[in-house]
Amino acid sequence: MEPIFEIKHVSYQYPDKHALNDINFSITKGEFLAIVGPNGSGKSTLLKLILGLLPLQKGDILVNGTSIKKINNQKGIGYVSQKANRAANGFPATVKEVVRSGLVQVKPIFKRFNKQDEQKVDQILERLNIEHIKDKNISDLSGGQQQRVFIARALISDPSVLVLDEPTVGIDAKHVASFYELLADLKAEGITILLVTHDIGVVADTATKVACLNEHLHFHGTIHDFKSLDEVEISKIYGHPIKFVNHDHDRECCK
Ligand SMILES: Nc1ncnc2c1ncn2[C@@H]1O[C@H](COP(=O)(O)OP(=O)(O)O)[C@@H](O)[C@H]1O
Ligand SMILES: [Mg+2]
Repeated sequence: MEPIFEIKHVSYQYPDKHALNDINFSITKGEFLAIVGPNGSGKSTLLKLILGLLPLQKGDILVNGTSIKKINNQKGIGYVSQKANRAANGFPATVKEVVRSGLVQVKPIFKRFNKQDEQKVDQILERLNIEHIKDKNISDLSGGQQQRVFIARALISDPSVLVLDEPTVGIDAKHVASFYELLADLKAEGITILLVTHDIGVVADTATKVACLNEHLHFHGTIHDFKSLDEVEISKIYGHPIKFVNHDHDRECCK
């Protein structure tokens, strides 16, 4: 299996905080990787380094075999940032406008949107079951609907990799289930998925690999091996005791 990203000896230091320490692992094409760890464990920092949004300080990241330092503009990655939902509140744009703005990254800024673009917007809205709200203002939607809008925005450029930072925060359980179904469909289409969450309870069975982060990479392996870790081992990663409640297949964590 070909690696799409190779993370090699990556460390990252903010002025007064060591965020990442000697991280090493690879992400394979078509894999669904869940990156888990408590708040402040460096998850968003790692994603930003992989996306080229933060400069590398130490180590290297290879993207399809080429050092990220030599890549000006990463194409083919759809990104839903941790702040996406929060930014939506009070933002004066319709669903259609937000989704269409995902095309700006692949089009010269001054080029107008054409009929083909509009068709693409309609297709993706339909796919995500949000076509009936396309003229609504984004700030008037529920958290689950806003989430779909931002995923639609990320998917409209036909990315081969989808990166999601804490996408289930503020979403109710019913919508979380349908969100994971959507991710399973995207994975089946061959899209590589990187999903960050601080809630180990929501690591879906659709994930193939898990990376447990807390400044260091404490665990990297299959979802199966992750689920066989015991509470003591996970508690060490979290830095405080954790108890699991087993709900069907998923793990729920109560602190
Ligand atoms: N821009 C920043 N400046 C200084 N410290 C930061 C900055 N961003 C994050 N940090 C710190 O780095 C650590 C890791 O942050 P982050 O990667 O956002 O963690 P996570 O996404 O796992 O919650 C945290 O202690 C956080 O406070
Ligand atoms: Mg974060």
